[in-house]
Amino acid sequence: MSQAELIAHLRRLLGDRLLTEREDLVAYSRDASKLTRLPLAVAQPESEAEVVEIVRACLAHSVPLTPRGAASGLTGGAVPASGGLVLDLNRMNRLLSLDPDEQVAVVEPGMVVGELNRIAAKHNLQYAADPGSSAFCTVGGTVAENAGGMLAVRYGVTRDQVLALRAVIGTGEVIQVGRATRKDVAGYDLVSLMVGSEGTLGIITQIALKLTPLPDALATATVLYAEESGALSAAATLVRHRLPLRALEFMDRSCVRLVAETQRLSLPGVGREELAQGRWCLLLVECEGDTPEEARRRLGQVEEVLARSEGGGRFLPCPEGERERVWQIRKSLHGALFTQGLELINEDLCVPRTALPAFIGKIYSSWKKLLPELALFVYGHAGDGNLHIEGFSPPEQAGEVDRERIDELRQRLMEAAVALGGTISGEHGVGLTKTAYLGLMYGEAELSLMARLKRAFDPQGILNPGKILGEFSRKPGT
Ligand code: LAC
Ligand code: ZN
Repeated sequence: MSQAELIAHLRRLLGDRLLTEREDLVAYSRDASKLTRLPLAVAQPESEAEVVEIVRACLAHSVPLTPRGAASGLTGGAVPASGGLVLDLNRMNRLLSLDPDEQVAVVEPGMVVGELNRIAAKHNLQYAADPGSSAFCTVGGTVAENAGGMLAVRYGVTRDQVLALRAVIGTGEVIQVGRATRKDVAGYDLVSLMVGSEGTLGIITQIALKLTPLPDALATATVLYAEESGALSAAATLVRHRLPLRALEFMDRSCVRLVAETQRLSLPGVGREELAQGRWCLLLVECEGDTPEEARRRLGQVEEVLARSEGGGRFLPCPEGERERVWQIRKSLHGALFTQGLELINEDLCVPRTALPAFIGKIYSSWKKLLPELALFVYGHAGDGNLHIEGFSPPEQAGEVDRERIDELRQRLMEAAVALGGTISGEHGVGLTKTAYLGLMYGEAELSLMARLKRAFDPQGILNPGKILGEFSRKPGT
């Protein structure tokens, strides 16, 4: 059957919820990785039954399917790399239930994470997976990517919040896996397999999530350092002391300068001009407690440990009422980076937390050796050992970019992370941009097992082809 027949079939099923106009296809051709490919059409289902129909139609016509939430992903997961259909899940955004006693919410994939948190807060609960994009990213997208975020050091990542889910797999069958209980070891853990599978194993249609009580009190501080190695040694020291942290974030000097300059941000006790000089990198530390005294006492322990350790941090407790302003300095960073010209490197590497000081040394030495002209920004979730590394070329030099040296720098950075016992992605996924590097972590046995798993869920290879395994999924004989 032809693509025209598929379009006609989907038009009958979805009416004007099937988009085929060129401007719509352009809008749905990209995600935050900035990679692009025009889809054939965009389908906007409103129910699981419609998703089943769409998957079956794509199977019948051998047309690939790329699911999409807010498309804020950074590695190309939502880019329709093989053309075909984009499945826009934003209309499936209902809260199906919220049980405050059981502390479980059941949602459709298109619900925005921040919206779930607003509703949960009315019950004095939180959804503890809090990515930087929570104001607009969808639960389905964060589950598909196994998003991390600013609270992972305390509550774990998205995988730690997902109890059960429903999905339509590549055969058109609906699976319901996991249970909304605090324990469940019946059968293989297909929930964990689906979380982080980047839309390659199934289209998630319903998710049961663990909620957690909102902390009664928070105490927050920033700690300024003159050197990145000092800040990350301090972060490793906090980990060694096993202090109960709610967040431990890091920004290098370029990042602090950037937000002071472009977002006109300052910190309580340090003016914008001083931050804009690029003299300070920082840690943002937060503790929680049942009472304000307990939160402050825990933050006091952090201050004590840091005062005794090397690095010479300047500890700035956040006064009452200033917390939002302090967090703004970290949360506005990603948006500020969008102003920095042509992005050539966007990595998301994660190492054992105590290896952070060694890792930052490797990052800077590779950069200075291979591409010192690149504007480099390093920031991230120090409490998890997870650093984001973004490199930009000024727009006027974009034409002269040496792709080989960029690839070499990317390779070096990923090799350094893996050599320290780390991973090529802590939270942004493999998507399209890192498929060539999965072989740094895994050999033939693991990669061919992953390819066989993919085939078990999606025998015809219609679900988000090319993502994660890339060439490995097409290796002959696997
Ligand atoms: C952050 C996103 C980019 O940490 O992961 O801001
Ligand atoms: Zn992050």
